Amino acid sequence: MSIPIQQRIAEALKVAFGTVLSISPDSVDPVIRRAQKAEIADFQANGAMALAKKHGQNPKELAELVVGVVDFENFADCPTVAGPGFINITIKNETLSALVEAMDTHALGVVLDEDPHAVAIDLCGVNVAKQLHVGHLRATIIGDSIARMYERVGRKVFRENHLGDWGLPIAMVLEQLLASGADLDTLSILDLNSAYKNAKLIAKDELRGEKTARAMQAGPHRLIEIEEQNIGAIDAQNKAKKVLNALQQGDGQLLQDWQKLIDCTMASVYQALDLLNVKIGPENNRGESFYRDRLGGVVASFVAKNLAEEDNGATVVRFDDRDRPMLIQKSDGGFLYATTDLAAIQFRTQELKASHVIYVVDSRQRDHFKDLFDGAKLIGWDKTPDGNDSVLAHVPFGQVLGEDKKPLKTRSGSSVTLSSLLEEAIDRGTSEVTKRSKDPASPTHGMCVDDLHTIGRQIGIGAVKYADLSNDLIRDYVFDIDRMVAFEGNTGPYIQYACARISSLIRKGNLQKDAPVTIAEPQERALALKLLQYNGVLQDAIAYLEPHRLCTWLYELTEAFSTFYQSCPVLKNEDETIKQSRLRLADLTRRVVVDGLDLLGIESPEKM
Ligand code: ARG
Repeated sequence: MSIPIQQRIAEALKVAFGTVLSISPDSVDPVIRRAQKAEIADFQANGAMALAKKHGQNPKELAELVVGVVDFENFADCPTVAGPGFINITIKNETLSALVEAMDTHALGVVLDEDPHAVAIDLCGVNVAKQLHVGHLRATIIGDSIARMYERVGRKVFRENHLGDWGLPIAMVLEQLLASGADLDTLSILDLNSAYKNAKLIAKDELRGEKTARAMQAGPHRLIEIEEQNIGAIDAQNKAKKVLNALQQGDGQLLQDWQKLIDCTMASVYQALDLLNVKIGPENNRGESFYRDRLGGVVASFVAKNLAEEDNGATVVRFDDRDRPMLIQKSDGGFLYATTDLAAIQFRTQELKASHVIYVVDSRQRDHFKDLFDGAKLIGWDKTPDGNDSVLAHVPFGQVLGEDKKPLKTRSGSSVTLSSLLEEAIDRGTSEVTKRSKDPASPTHGMCVDDLHTIGRQIGIGAVKYADLSNDLIRDYVFDIDRMVAFEGNTGPYIQYACARISSLIRKGNLQKDAPVTIAEPQERALALKLLQYNGVLQDAIAYLEPHRLCTWLYELTEAFSTFYQSCPVLKNEDETIKQSRLRLADLTRRVVVDGLDLLGIESPEKM
């Protein structure tokens, strides 16, 4: 009984339609849906309508004929026909019981993906000398969840943290700090941050001038004038370029200093990642600098294959369907963000042999990834060396907004740091669980402060992550901490709480491991049918790269459990067989919720 029940119904109906219509079963789509009303049926096959139309028959008559010949073996009752030709199917209780028992193993019914290729997931993507902000929160949480889901089905995953750790901006920061005589050993991330902002301001001056000049189609004289106006900026840039040059040449002292900037940045990043309970550490760092010696080779490969051309001294790749070229080398010889990403995609498909390269990056970089993927296709880096086509996917996400529906800012107007948000969420979770622990009936009653704090962290972080993952990723969302940490509604804490309550039920009951499952009541049936969807939901969430599918389903599962629990007595049941069966159903639900939350990177406190 390892085949999902829906698939078995579909197979039997295909054969039946095929027989009645004298066509191949393979050409039949029986259109199976979950039935709207559980008291009437579990599933509904709606295929008769389209098939009847196609073959010039009456849909109701066709459905009746199909019902007469369909062979559901023993797993479903005899189907009935309703309305214009819907076929209603009800699964037998024994079948549901057997399926639930079969699911109750370590694997929880999850089918492994045997593809031996790796999956590379580009996530986090912080920039050196910049504090982690809310935008990176999304790239981290979503990327980690997708990675967990792939790992859950048995795939080898590379979490690639494509740090912005190379190039002119970093060189500018370094140059500034060195010139000001700063002690790089005692720097804080705040010092780095202000140096970064300063550097950006200076660079912007020059950019603005250049941009205006270009927009006005100014001649070379005007450009020279503008350059003179921005002499300070250019001077700073030149100094930075010198630093970058020396770095590129491998100047030992400078490289050490540069490493200090990275260490300082990453120390603060790891602090936040640690709070977030994501599986990203130093081993995942393969930043821009990792590719620095490959950039010349990338450009040379495109040029050698006639896939790139010279444009005013620069090198560009052009695409047939758009005007926007992809710049891969500037006229001064410098490389770009796109060049580095081409080197990275080559590395991921050719060396990591990834069949999936997934970029979890802000939706504003959409054009960049379109160009990148098309560039990779042109040159053949969209295949693994064994000739397997790789899926190159950008998972774009929207912005985190404040209450005013504008990108989240602090009162002073600067971007909100991630740590401050997380601290707030943890405080809220902790005060909620502390408040509840005052009640003598609460399982947390009498717990020490440290334990309450641990649970508070699990709740607060779970709340933030669930809120982030449960929407369509592309949508902007409002960071509303009150709604996120609520124990009611479609929230992380609601699901965690439901799960903790099941844990306490199990603790009180005396579950016998091999007690038989006997599904009989409608609420048991509904819960069983929901549980049996787990594998399918997970596979869909992976195929569509949409963790919110898993969130919605987990919420529905906890709802189905609470309906079951309200109408089907467990501990107070006099019949020991039914009690044991229900305890087992509860325990399976708990393990599935824990497993599902873990795929979202959310912990499940035993007590709340
Ligand atoms: N550091 C980049 C940024 O903050 C994100 C990196 C995304 N990954 C990539 N391979 N381009 O904008």
